[in-house]
Amino acid sequence: MAIQLGDDPDHELVIKVRDLVVGFGDRDVIDGFDLDVRRGEILGVVGPSGAGKSVTLRAVIGLLPKKAGTVEVFGLDMDRATDAERLAIERRWGVLFQQGALFSSLTVKQNIEMPMREHTDLSARMMDEVARLKIDLVGLKPEAAELYPAELSGGMIKRAALARALALDPDIVFLDEPTAGLDPIGANAFDRLIMTLKETLGLTVYMVTHDLDSLTTACDRIAALKGGKLLAIGPMSEMVKNDDPWMKDYFRGERARAAGFGANAA
Ligand SMILES: Nc1ncnc2c1ncn2[C@@H]1O[C@H](COP(=O)(O)OP(=O)(O)O)[C@@H](O)[C@H]1O
Ligand SMILES: [Mg+2]
Repeated sequence: MAIQLGDDPDHELVIKVRDLVVGFGDRDVIDGFDLDVRRGEILGVVGPSGAGKSVTLRAVIGLLPKKAGTVEVFGLDMDRATDAERLAIERRWGVLFQQGALFSSLTVKQNIEMPMREHTDLSARMMDEVARLKIDLVGLKPEAAELYPAELSGGMIKRAALARALALDPDIVFLDEPTAGLDPIGANAFDRLIMTLKETLGLTVYMVTHDLDSLTTACDRIAALKGGKLLAIGPMSEMVKNDDPWMKDYFRGERARAAGFGANAA
C-alpha cells in the first residue's frame, strides 16, 4: 500500500524526500524512498540493521551521491541550489554521526570549534565563548572543554558531539543512533536533553535510533525504513498496529514488552 505524503497544510515541511535511490555499484540500498520531516518535530527513523538508515541520512545531507530522486530542504531542491545556497543550507543543520563522533586528536572545545572555523570568520575569542556556551547547553561541566575524547565517558562523548552539532545554531539536527552504547540512564538523560533542546531552541530533529525508549518518550513521529522504501510513518500508536512482520516483532515483540508497551496491541 502506498503511503500518502505531502500536501500537508497543517505542517510546514523542512525536509521533503521523493523517490530517493542510493546504491553502491549496481546494488541499490535505497530504492524509491519518500519522507516528509515537519518543522519542530522529533522524527525517529527505524528499520532493520543494514536497511540503509545511515545511508539515507548521508544522502539527505549530501554526503553520498543519489542515483535518482529529489531532496528539498526548506523548500529548496538541493540539486538546483547554487553553491552559495547549498552552503547556507548546510549551515542550518548539525550532524551527530554514528561512527567517529569526535576527532580524537582534538579537545572537546577544539572539536566544537571545527564547524565554526569551517563556516564562519569568528575571532578565536568568540569561538571560545560560543564553545563554552554549547558545552553548558548540553550539560557538560566547563572542565570538559580541555579534555580529549579518550578521557570522556560514552555519555560525555555523545554530549560533546551534540555540542559540536549545535555549534552554528542549526534549525535541524541529524542524529545517527545517539543513544547506542549508553546505559539506560545515560540514554534516558540524552533523550530528555534532546526534548529540552527541541522545546527551547525550536529544533527539528531527525534521529535514527534502535532505542524503543527514545521512540516512545522523545519522538513525535516514527518513520520505518525497510526494503529501501518508507514502510510506515506516524506516531507510536500507529506503529504498534502495523502488520508488517518486522514491525510486529519490533514494536510488539519480546523487547517491546520488556520496555513496557505493546503488550495490549496484539
Ligand atoms: N560506503 C559503502 N559502500 C558499500 N556499501 C555500503 C556503504 N555504506 C553502506 N553500505 C551498505 O549499505 C547498506 C545499508 O547500510 P547502513 O545505511 O549503514 O545501514 P543501517 O540501516 O544499519 O544504518 C548495508 O548493506 C551496507 O553494507
Ligand atoms: Mg546505521
